[in-house]
Amino acid sequence: MVESSAPGNIFLLGEHSVVYERPALLASLGRRTYVSGDKRDDEKVFVVSENYGKIESDIESLGKRMYESQGNYMDELDPLRHLISYFHRVVNDLDRGFEAKIESEIPKDSGGQSSSTAVLTAFFDFLNELYGGGVDKGDYFSHLYPLQVKIHGGAASGSEFASSIFGGYNKVVKTPDGQRPVEFENLGNLELDLVVGDTGVKAKTDETVSKVRRNWQNNKKMYESYFNSIADLVGRAEKAIEEKNLEELGYLMNENHRILSKQLEVSHPKLEEFVEAAREAGAYGAKLSGGGGGGIMVALCDESNKKDVREAIEEKGGKAGITEVGVPGVMRE
Ligand code: MEV
Repeated sequence: MVESSAPGNIFLLGEHSVVYERPALLASLGRRTYVSGDKRDDEKVFVVSENYGKIESDIESLGKRMYESQGNYMDELDPLRHLISYFHRVVNDLDRGFEAKIESEIPKDSGGQSSSTAVLTAFFDFLNELYGGGVDKGDYFSHLYPLQVKIHGGAASGSEFASSIFGGYNKVVKTPDGQRPVEFENLGNLELDLVVGDTGVKAKTDETVSKVRRNWQNNKKMYESYFNSIADLVGRAEKAIEEKNLEELGYLMNENHRILSKQLEVSHPKLEEFVEAAREAGAYGAKLSGGGGGGIMVALCDESNKKDVREAIEEKGGKAGITEVGVPGVMRE
């Protein structure tokens, strides 16, 4: 039996502008998705997931249907079908079928913690091991990135895959059409206390990414200036992280949230409420994380205030958790 796992992640700063080649800071989350299973003696492919449902297919039909599809994914399992067929055709033959079980600690409710990224990363590792794909971890990204573009409706930075693959704290920069479309830099071992608040409203990443793109196309000058402002905050945040200056990092997260909310307009009333509640309860800073339009927010806390912040978000009706961050990336269990 083979078992692989990969973590979800959050954006400390820089979502959306990262799609436009500005830097972002991400951290892997101590919540993982596990994929386990084995080869079968026939050509059948069975995948079971509590969160996403089932795939019951076989190697040939799975390959043809999805790999040739140019359109958007039709349901939540389509990216996985695509991945399996891609692997079969491009990485290594599936000589026999397989069965796999997906189990996840990442709440899928509202998204924003990269649950689908973690599934796909762990699944790629699982197939790579089971079928002797021989792909180095450093090359996983180039295989997985096209899926992210499709999931996000046509434009993506791929930074969530970088975080799920490598883990830890990362600075991520998308590069224009290079061989390696995203550069990552490990920011070392930090111990930040983060509270994650889940709105329960499904994150609308494909919609918000498309909206920002449309607006950028209609008013490049203004949007470029928003992205530059965020890039400036990211640069200062990197320094704040280095100096372990939580006050400054919190302030920069607040400023990033203000731009996401007021200028890019990708927030949601519940995110606003939770962000406000977290700040009032003593968080150094708080912001939405990921695509927005729902999904999650993160609050930067310390030992003395993280419980209060969690409770303040829960009082507003959110699901909140104190979560370990900066954990290792994809791995064999
Ligand atoms: C979505 O989780 C993060 C965005 O920056 C899109 C991307 O990076 O591809 C909004």
